[in-house]
Amino acid sequence: MSQKFRRIGVLTSGGDAPGMNAAVRAVARAAIQKGVEVVAIYEGYKGLITENLKVIGNRDVSNILNVGGTALYSDRCLEFKTEEGMQKAIDTCKKYEIDGIVAIGGDGTFRGATDLSWRGIPTIGIPATIDNDITSTDYALGFDTAMNTVLGLGDKLRDTCESHARCNVIEVMGRNAGYIALQTGIALGASAIVLRECDFDEAAALEKIKASKAEGKRNFIVIVAEGVPDFAEGFAKKIQAETGIETKFCRPAHIVRGGSPTLRDRLIASQYAEKAVELLLAGKSDVVVCMRDGKIVETDISYALILDRMYKGTLKEGDLDKFTPEQVEAMKAFCAMRDAEFKEMYALSDLISH
Ligand code: F6P
Repeated sequence: MSQKFRRIGVLTSGGDAPGMNAAVRAVARAAIQKGVEVVAIYEGYKGLITENLKVIGNRDVSNILNVGGTALYSDRCLEFKTEEGMQKAIDTCKKYEIDGIVAIGGDGTFRGATDLSWRGIPTIGIPATIDNDITSTDYALGFDTAMNTVLGLGDKLRDTCESHARCNVIEVMGRNAGYIALQTGIALGASAIVLRECDFDEAAALEKIKASKAEGKRNFIVIVAEGVPDFAEGFAKKIQAETGIETKFCRPAHIVRGGSPTLRDRLIASQYAEKAVELLLAGKSDVVVCMRDGKIVETDISYALILDRMYKGTLKEGDLDKFTPEQVEAMKAFCAMRDAEFKEMYALSDLISH
């Protein structure tokens, strides 16, 4: 272990996600076990500006493993993005002798981690967002729990739809990404799934619902991703008008962000945390822990952020300049693979719904 690390900080930032607490606990326990002190930084990066932090021990992270939300609280801190706010955060790290940080959250959190790293505070990211929309990793904490919550709600809605021969359109969170919608749609046997990433043939979907009704089907679930703006509620009305099936609309919204983390979220949180501490103490900085093909690997945050922009079609001029042509080709191939996987799953949903 590098002598440099006597004390590290841990924070959660951005939208909360089930599993964040399990990650905080494991970061604290792993570091303490290695003889390193741990400082809890409250309310994300804001805690570095307001000096809202305290040294914690093993007992301080007891009984949070199974709890949703984040015991360290969270914030989307705008001040941290200013030069003044950033300087204050660095000053706080120096004042409290914080030698490195593990930052748990989504892409906004990783941008903050990069800023700190470049200013001399080594920072490692752990992906956590129910949206699972961090391109460099197969898995972000909270995704499984959020999907299971949607599954529970959808199953309940199906019960009552069956009794009354109704349809229910459910709009699920995910920001601009349709991962939650796609996977819960398949698992709920949705009659249609509507998301930004794939073309939706509205007329064909309505015909399919009518045909299923004619065969005697009584319950219909339709899943819409929140990334498709101003669509879900109107589509519910359209289904009713065009098919004659009474159709309700449901938006679970933030319900999907809460709740006790599933086994998968607790387990992966613990694995990510252990890896993050290992990397930090080995002298790594500005990297995010990722899952790829079941293995836990590390990716440079600058690479991960640009890969993410490439996948989401939000690349800015000059973004690719610092990468070699080989790296750019590898990014393109990776994005094409992600896209193909997504479309394949969407095709499956269409094939087996009726
Ligand atoms: O990123 C997680 C998420 O829950 C998204 O799915 C959603 O679009 C957004 O955060 C909601 O943000 P807020 O909690 O600020 O309303």
